[in-house]
Amino acid sequence: MRTLYCGDLRKQHIGETVTLYGWVDRRRDHGGVIFLDLRDRSGIVQIVSDPQRTPDSYEQANALRNEYVVQISGRVTQRPEESLNVRISTGEVEVYADRIELLNAVGKQLPFQVSTSDNETVREDLRLKYRYLDLRRDRMAGNLLLRHQIVKAMRRYLEDVEGFIEIETPVLTRSTPEGARDFILPSRVNPGEWFALPQSPQLFKQLLMVSGFDRYYQIARCFRDEDLRADRQPEFTQLDMEMSFMSQEEIIELNEKLVCHIFKTVKGIELYYPFPRLTYADAMERYGSDKPDTRFGLELVNVSDVLKDSGFKVFREAIANGGIVKILPIPNGNDVISNVRIKPGGDLFKEASDVGAKGLAYIRVRDDGEIDTIGAIKDNLTTEQKQEILHRTGAQSGHLLLFGAGDAATVNKTLDRLRQVIAREFGLIDQDKINLLWITDFPMFEWNATEQRLEALHHPFTAPHPEDLSNLKTARAQAYDLVFNGFEVGGGSLRIYQRSIQEQVFEAIGLSLEEAHNKFGFLLEAFEYGTPPHGGIAYGLDRLAMLLAGEESIRDVIAFPKTQQARCLLTDAPSGVDAKQLKDLHVASTYKPKS
Ligand code: AMO
Repeated sequence: MRTLYCGDLRKQHIGETVTLYGWVDRRRDHGGVIFLDLRDRSGIVQIVSDPQRTPDSYEQANALRNEYVVQISGRVTQRPEESLNVRISTGEVEVYADRIELLNAVGKQLPFQVSTSDNETVREDLRLKYRYLDLRRDRMAGNLLLRHQIVKAMRRYLEDVEGFIEIETPVLTRSTPEGARDFILPSRVNPGEWFALPQSPQLFKQLLMVSGFDRYYQIARCFRDEDLRADRQPEFTQLDMEMSFMSQEEIIELNEKLVCHIFKTVKGIELYYPFPRLTYADAMERYGSDKPDTRFGLELVNVSDVLKDSGFKVFREAIANGGIVKILPIPNGNDVISNVRIKPGGDLFKEASDVGAKGLAYIRVRDDGEIDTIGAIKDNLTTEQKQEILHRTGAQSGHLLLFGAGDAATVNKTLDRLRQVIAREFGLIDQDKINLLWITDFPMFEWNATEQRLEALHHPFTAPHPEDLSNLKTARAQAYDLVFNGFEVGGGSLRIYQRSIQEQVFEAIGLSLEEAHNKFGFLLEAFEYGTPPHGGIAYGLDRLAMLLAGEESIRDVIAFPKTQQARCLLTDAPSGVDAKQLKDLHVASTYKPKS
């Protein structure tokens, strides 16, 4: 029987005989003395075998190779002074192996060294193809353990402190209204009909409120067929919650306590609530983003009013067409950011044009408030305009002012992107900072230019602000997102529970009552039978784990993730299926492989 995990051995165990199980991380032969690093999911401990002190294990030890699976029994001893290893938690002790039993050998050449002792970096595609080996390595094993601890802290707090109960909701279901593309599955027994995988448990959790389950939560798998990014996977996990009879303030406070509990339990970090809040409008104005990274400054400055009559056509026309002109002021930007970088062909120009900017106007501030810029701007700037720009941006000698001019969405996207790139380049981000903030008062709707109609920013069940009911089209929503160092880690809202308001919202997004009933009739009907006021939130568990683990991709906190091309390299999914399977499902593919 195992006495301990390898990583748990400490000085206090000296003198004890222990039995350990694990993998040989590394084997070294020091002049007839064999040293093994034995690894299990908890860490590594050093095993020693030599012909004099442990003759019974020596031959076995000598024959072991990396990644062999063994059982080892032996005595825990103090390491000699000169071989103490402060880098590992077991570094003060070693185990003299009385007995080694080989449980299994490695039959093939390893695709990469599992041991991380020599810091070899392994290509991600190899790591994903042989994920089971990658998960033996301490970084990934640590990340999965951390993820588990986060979930455990969530469960403990919600169940034991706040009285939530976990209820599972279906995975084979109808389309849910989160706005991404659905994954769909043909029904064999109902020819021609399709299930959708849930983009979230949104509709079911609202139904659970109608049923009276007051405080519901679920660690829920969600599916969205979107383009992938470092913080997006086609299947991901939410901590999903819904509550009845609570105001927005009460929901936010409960969630702040939950987040504080998670940080305290998992990282030993004490956070304080209430967390800061920004309205959506302020966040967009100051940072150009509804998920601003507030660990650094570089705030945007709106100068539309100053430049609305500017002689410079680009500024004047942007504003005349309903757009804006904003500035990203960069202290000491002149020294580091050359004209080459902000003109076509330059790296910063590319960042801007990738998100739709057509150009990057600039002003360089020199000594005594003198400025350098292109003639068309300089010649058209009055002294008052120049003074006002310098005043508002707080610009001093050395400042580079980058301009965004055009429709508000493009300007904000451009300057948000540049703000982040420049903060990284200038080392302005304090990596130890934890900035959590709520974004509130989202607009109910945004304009979908392709479809020429309003669409719900969150989903069509989000309740409008009670003060804004008279003009729903421009109403604020009772919705809130939680932002952590520039990532949206959670989002939720109060829901509509009165039929008349729900009908107005459907009307605003151009959904006829008939269409609404076709899509969500079951929910609308349920709402007729006594619905409590309710609201909720969902956290992206993968994103939260990524940030707490200090990783840059959610792939590194998911045991078996998909690649950027939405493939699982380990199982080689997705894959073709037999013609018979398709026939049974009454499905034919129209796909023609390129020849
Ligand atoms: P929302 O769509 O904002 O809200 O999702 C909640 C949180 O889930 C995470 N998330 C993702 N994580 C990884 N990969 C993805 N593709 C992905 N998409 C979203 C984000 C996000 O904040 N039903 C509502 C919640 C509610 O109103 O209660 C919902 O799903 O961290």
